[in-house]
Amino acid sequence: MILFVDSTVREDSRTRRLAERLVSRLADNDVRVLRLEDEHLRPFDARTLDRRTRAIEAGRWNSPLLAKAAEFASVDQIVVAAPFWDLSFPALLKTYIEWISVIGVVFRYSDDGRPIGLCRARRLFYVSTSGGPAETDPFGFGYVEALAKSFWGIPDVRRIAATGLDIVGADVEAILRSAETEIDKVRP
Ligand SMILES: Cc1cc2nc3c(=O)[nH]c(=O)nc-3n(C[C@H](O)[C@H](O)[C@H](O)COP(=O)(O)O)c2cc1C
Repeated sequence: MILFVDSTVREDSRTRRLAERLVSRLADNDVRVLRLEDEHLRPFDARTLDRRTRAIEAGRWNSPLLAKAAEFASVDQIVVAAPFWDLSFPALLKTYIEWISVIGVVFRYSDDGRPIGLCRARRLFYVSTSGGPAETDPFGFGYVEALAKSFWGIPDVRRIAATGLDIVGADVEAILRSAETEIDKVRP
């Protein structure tokens, strides 16, 4: 099962175009698509945080407050579509990360306080496009990579990016096609 976490919002999103190509390269079926815009997840406030903590303590793993985490922890591969916004990614994705970061489901702590990942996935792809020349992406990809490796236990984390799309005179199609060539070489 592949989980496609889509934080794009624009109708003609270039990031979604690349991510959808990657998802169909990885699998024809068995894909769970999460359009975050349609999920209407809210950032955690004191009340929902408290309800979630009580659900964890009572082991109510089928609670809607824990279901997103259980799904994330159970899939084989993950594709995240995240346009480069404000040196990072859309808040929709940060809110989703809050929803999946459930202790006892996605990670646990060792006796000496270190996180141990509990996710089944071995591979996570982070697909992004940017307006400017974002050769590296420490606050978007770098953050998700750090979480994946140190908290979720996903060892293989890769970024596929098309950059410089909004620079005046850029050959947008050529840049996207070059990223698609990279995608077509990914081992399914
Ligand atoms: C809210 C917002 C913030 C953005 N911030 C940046 C930025 O910090 N740096 C950058 O190079 N491009 C930035 N861009 C441009 C986008 O990264 C670029 O247009 C990207 O291809 C959009 O992805 P999409 O086609 O999937 O929507 C921003 C665009 C939006 C809408």
